[in-house]
Amino acid sequence: MDRGVVLSEVGRFDLEEIEVDSPGEGEVLVRIEASGVCHSDLHLVETGWAHRLPVLLGHEGAGVVEEVGRGVTTLAPGDRVVLGWRSPCGACRWCMRGDVRRCRTPPGVRDRLHLADGRSLSQTLQMGTFATRTVVHSAAAIPIADGLPPEQACLIGCSVATGVGSVLNTADVWEGARVAVIGCGAVGLSVVQGARLAGASEIYALDLEERKLVAAEAFGATHRGPGAKLDFVFDVVGRPETVAQGLEMLGHAGTLVYIGLPQPGAAAAIDLQQLFDRRLRVVVSHGGDHVPALDFPQLVQWAREGKIDLAGMVTKRVGLEDVAQAFDDLKAGEVIRSVILF
Ligand SMILES: NC(=O)c1ccc[n+]([C@@H]2O[C@H](COP(=O)([O-])OP(=O)(O)OC[C@H]3O[C@@H](n4cnc5c(N)ncnc54)[C@H](O)[C@@H]3O)[C@@H](O)[C@H]2O)c1
Ligand SMILES: [Zn+2]
Ligand SMILES: [Zn+2]
Repeated sequence: MDRGVVLSEVGRFDLEEIEVDSPGEGEVLVRIEASGVCHSDLHLVETGWAHRLPVLLGHEGAGVVEEVGRGVTTLAPGDRVVLGWRSPCGACRWCMRGDVRRCRTPPGVRDRLHLADGRSLSQTLQMGTFATRTVVHSAAAIPIADGLPPEQACLIGCSVATGVGSVLNTADVWEGARVAVIGCGAVGLSVVQGARLAGASEIYALDLEERKLVAAEAFGATHRGPGAKLDFVFDVVGRPETVAQGLEMLGHAGTLVYIGLPQPGAAAAIDLQQLFDRRLRVVVSHGGDHVPALDFPQLVQWAREGKIDLAGMVTKRVGLEDVAQAFDDLKAGEVIRSVILF
């Protein structure tokens, strides 16, 4: 019998028995080996964020393909995969004009997961990785080279792809740029790592927690606290006050990259004179505009070459029954990432 962590109403989740159907055409069934606990899962628990309930939590997973549906030729049982939540659909306006990184309709699966009473389960970002097994579209399961432990590989699926991608794809940070990161959890620390890869000359780290600043320095931050006249500020918190702080820190033609998920109804005031005079830009990052099939192999390669540090981001290993504790640790800033191991 499969088990998964199911959000049945806002604020209420339980580890439940679930039924996992065989994959349909173009789909694959994946046995999960590891799943990171991302702040976006907590955001979903706290706000219901754009999902039909009940919903199977988790979206940062790695595992092994167990079964493939009809027509799947790119994957076979036994393949090690990282799951990716933003594969391009290939059919929308953005995909049709070749701008696949802007696609926002990744293909999912139809009604493959159920509660024991037969009720249909939706899947967080069409993934559902807080579960022993899940079914995803074959385009969302990216085969990876051997050699990366699942507890590290899973992080590529959200925090690392989002953080590094926000630097390299969304912002296109140049060599010598001066950048800051507000909020140094797993996503923010991945921004720090991306900024280092891009050759940023100064990387300012901001966080409310001393230990996150220590971690940021270990991952490549060069300064603590707000900088001034910066080229890029990455807001990985996403609150009105961090947006205001971020805009204030920018210099001429500076860019604010908005990554942290907004609370429902949140609004920020923008000083228009400042916006105009400094020619500021605000860009929003969905997953760092990553495309799993294009970017995961590169990120795996960089991890294997030691260019990005994944091991240092895994600060706690937990079981599927420990998700409530993992959320508490996330809220308390106790961890960089808790990873569920199966
Ligand atoms: N845009 C996307 O595609 C995307 C993808 C993944 C995660 N996210 C979002 O990014 C955010 C970060 O995710 P995470 O998993 O790294 O979370 P996290 O909780 O691990 O990290 C957030 C960090 O921000 C710090 N922080 C909180 N308030 C702050 C403030 N006012 N000033 C400075 N630092 C502050 C916390 O101490 C913590 O270290 C969340 O909102 C998450 O939902 C967005
Ligand atoms: Zn995430
Ligand atoms: Zn598309």
